[in-house]
Amino acid sequence: MKIISVVGARPNFMKIAPLMRELARHPDFDHLLVHTGQHYDPTMSDVFFSDLKLPEPDVHLGVGSGSHAGQTAQVMLGFEPVLSAECPDLVIVVGDVNSTLACSLVAAKLQVPIAHIEAGVRSFDRSMPEEINRVVTDALSSLLFSPSPEANLNLAAEGVPPERIYLVGNVMADTLSQAAGLAADRHTFRRWGLGPGEYAVCTLHRPSNVDDPGRLGALMETLGQVSARLPVILPLHPRTARNLQAFGLEARHPQAPNLILTEPLGYLDFLSLLSEAKLVLTDSGGIQAETSIVGVPCLTLRENTEWPVTVEQGTNYLVGTDPVAVLAVVEQILAGQSKVGRVPELWDGQAAGRIADVLGAWSSRRQSSLASESPPDKPPIRLKAISMIS
Ligand code: UD1
Repeated sequence: MKIISVVGARPNFMKIAPLMRELARHPDFDHLLVHTGQHYDPTMSDVFFSDLKLPEPDVHLGVGSGSHAGQTAQVMLGFEPVLSAECPDLVIVVGDVNSTLACSLVAAKLQVPIAHIEAGVRSFDRSMPEEINRVVTDALSSLLFSPSPEANLNLAAEGVPPERIYLVGNVMADTLSQAAGLAADRHTFRRWGLGPGEYAVCTLHRPSNVDDPGRLGALMETLGQVSARLPVILPLHPRTARNLQAFGLEARHPQAPNLILTEPLGYLDFLSLLSEAKLVLTDSGGIQAETSIVGVPCLTLRENTEWPVTVEQGTNYLVGTDPVAVLAVVEQILAGQSKVGRVPELWDGQAAGRIADVLGAWSSRRQSSLASESPPDKPPIRLKAISMIS
């Protein structure tokens, strides 16, 4: 079976890495990796390839930044000839970025089946571009690999036939468990003269938080207040860095000397920092999941989450951006009263293996179907639910 996997932006790389390792172990899979180039800075892309030991992409589309329509269109224009030339049996997309959506649209129009990893994840907030990307990608996919029972329910509510949905767990947990040893040796916090548990880590990049000067200014004020209680390390996403400068907000930072602004970090450095933090503040989706896996309290600076399982079972607090609420939870954690979470079911480091098993079985079924003279445009045979994992 010939498979093309697509990555484009930072949160994609850690999701495809464990699957690539699994696919490489199966002689029946002929695999190509396409990088759309949505993220292109070395700190947003190259460092993840080296940290995660990902091979060089077979095809790099070099698309870069743009408006939503412009970026999506450029990825589509770049991906279509690749797909037409390679004629794969399956396209694998991960997560919810514009590249995920763009390549799904191209594959669907060329009638190439799509497998979506991280299917069914929903914030129910369509002002988030990622939510649009998730809903459309799932609607177009033939194989939907879900990370949690609630994601299965979301897909069922949207009318996705149950036989397409496979509850496999969270592939980010695979990457994290494979990298934990290497990350632990890094002691990244030492760069700032800090020790384990002596600091908070923050990430901010959602347009809803960083594209409005008032909102970003208020968040920086709040972080300044948190940093009066413990140092806060803030690796800056390029969008956030650009906006801080454009809005003249960097100048406020000297008033909060314990608010440490730094470059974006690679996977291992960030995992090291996150694992040893007292607490994490973030508007990222992936970091909500990663903190629940490593058991570090996470304050999500948003009004909604696409990972409610991390609030219900993990270490995540959905606090929003009200400074009073944020500081109250920070005080609670500093007083040693953080909630004790547990790692959600099937976030056990084995998700990619489960996905590869499903793909292997799907491929066999598909080949037998083709051999028995199915018309070439017949939709692929869907696997019956595998009782252990679906
Ligand atoms: C994208 C994803 C988001 C994900 C985030 C992780 C979409 C809609 N959004 O948001 O889901 O959480 O990546 O980082 O796909 N830039 C650089 N260098 C880069 C990449 C981007 O400087 O390598 C700057 C550019 O100014 C660009 C801006 O960041 O315009 C935004 O990049 P873009 O890929 O459009 O969206 P993100 O905010 O990164």
